Amino acid sequence: MLGFAKKAEKAGGGQTTNPRHVAIIMDGNGRWAKKRHLPRALGHKKGVEVVREIVRHAATTGLEALSLYAFSSENWKRPEDEVNDLMGLLRGFIKSDIDEFAANDVRLKIIGNYRALAPDIVDMIDDALARTAHNRRTTLAVALNYGAQDELVRAAQAAAGEGAISAEAIERHLDTADMPPLDLLIRTSGEQRLSNFMLWQAAYAELWFTDTLWPDFTPAEFDSALAEFGTRERRYGGR
Ligand code: FPP
Repeated sequence: MLGFAKKAEKAGGGQTTNPRHVAIIMDGNGRWAKKRHLPRALGHKKGVEVVREIVRHAATTGLEALSLYAFSSENWKRPEDEVNDLMGLLRGFIKSDIDEFAANDVRLKIIGNYRALAPDIVDMIDDALARTAHNRRTTLAVALNYGAQDELVRAAQAAAGEGAISAEAIERHLDTADMPPLDLLIRTSGEQRLSNFMLWQAAYAELWFTDTLWPDFTPAEFDSALAEFGTRERRYGGR
């Protein structure tokens, strides 16, 4: 099993501008494959290898939480073959990587309505969630059948059910409720939009875009994003 390197020392004695929570819209698998005259499925396959590398790397940077947009509630509109390919990759990912997460103190979390996936995947996920529930080093939130508008509707309904809709009440019912605030949102492949990902959480997040297609994304580029985050001035609406 591949281990995770020891958690990196934080620069500056702990008072750092390191993000606590980074989210990534992993885009460009299809274009990566097309450029190479390969089937799209191979782009997604390479995309999963990069997921694995980035998760391992992120855990060594001291990051508390990493959220990955793996399958949106709109992705069901893709051709059946492609949806099946993505689901197959998800099965393989959970099967082959969960032992490593469990051994390396990574907690798996799913955001989105994953219960609508195939029953065998739901069972695998429930098992993986239970096995990593007490891990504390890094939370890996994988967005599956996720859409931010759907998340907000569910959160608002739950808040209303308690009697009052307020920002605090909505936040308590978001899928990310037990995670640190989102600091940095990365999108690969040159597109500059949020595509219904973490709309509420992104309110004060820094946005970082790269032309790199997801299968070409590297830990070094992830570090560049973190480094640039450290230079940004965040004012949260103040001056
Ligand atoms: C975007 O590429 C990618 C996705 C549909 C989601 C990301 C999925 C993976 C990295 C693989 C599955 C992940 C896990 C954790 C098992 P695209 O097809 O939209 O690329 P394109 O815009 O170039 O066509």
